[in-house]
Amino acid sequence: RQSAVHMIDHLDRDYLRQALEHDVRTGLTATPKWLPPKWFYDATGSELFTRITRLPEYYPTRRELAILQARAGDIAAACGADTLVELGSGTSEKTVLLLEALTAAGTLRTYTPVDVDALTLAEAGRRIAAGFPGLTVRAVCADFERHLGLLPRTGRRMVAFLGGTIGNLDPAAREVFLKDLRATLRPGDTFLLGADLVKDTGRLVAAYDDAAGVTAAFNRNVLHVINRELTADFEPDAFEHVALYDERNDWIEMRLRATRDMRVTIGDLGLTARFAAGEEMRTEISAKFRLEGLGEELAAAGFTVLRRYTDPTGDFALVLAGA
Ligand code: AVJ
Repeated sequence: RQSAVHMIDHLDRDYLRQALEHDVRTGLTATPKWLPPKWFYDATGSELFTRITRLPEYYPTRRELAILQARAGDIAAACGADTLVELGSGTSEKTVLLLEALTAAGTLRTYTPVDVDALTLAEAGRRIAAGFPGLTVRAVCADFERHLGLLPRTGRRMVAFLGGTIGNLDPAAREVFLKDLRATLRPGDTFLLGADLVKDTGRLVAAYDDAAGVTAAFNRNVLHVINRELTADFEPDAFEHVALYDERNDWIEMRLRATRDMRVTIGDLGLTARFAAGEEMRTEISAKFRLEGLGEELAAAGFTVLRRYTDPTGDFALVLAGA
């Protein structure tokens, strides 16, 4: 049987536009200013992120891959899923290992990648469909924080949320997200969560401030996105990339620091934002976890932890939880 890709687009132009307008207006009028990390991922941003995953300093992707290489078979056996739903799927590179294991286990029927970047999603969907004959690929262009209710409701599902992307949510947003996700699952469904672990601060900061400057370009890309989409006049090169580790909150923060006084116009919003020299705008948090804390957060949302896996270095964790 031929495999097929279906694209379901929940992020129509109006929705995307309104969400971006709302976020930019909220973030640029706040003190201190901030922007949500979701808007990094246009085609250029997705490509820059792929380059980040190959940097010597950026360990999470390699560590998670190592866990999947060793444990995908065990995960497939434990979950028995016929439907794999992947939140924030991006290029679906690591997912291939899960798809292979679920195929070998004989249970897999459907793969539903979910991502905000339609182009990257479509490309990944086609590649996966070509590599897995008989697999139905239902790609869903959506925002995993807002559209959990639109995910497939049939079959025995495993929802995978890999790469440590959960770290983009602050603790309050995480609590809401985990509860909402739990509410969409039924007995027999599972949740596979990838999380970056607390470690030496020097290594953490280096992973978000690489020597080649790829992460800096990724960070500034959000300004290019706003310039293009909202007719703004940010000068991305007048902002410095900042990455620091907040030990109190256990998270990496990325910021953009204005190198001089600036007045930025966001044409489509009729908004002017003033930056003072040295002013910092937060563009991302990437929370780091301890295994106990992660288990507690999952339990508080109504999940039962079934399996915990870490790589040999203890850098990264995958947790399989039951609904
Ligand atoms: C895609 C959210 C997992 O937080 O490590 C990489 C994004 N930002 N380098 C992360 C990111 C800067 C990444 N996630």
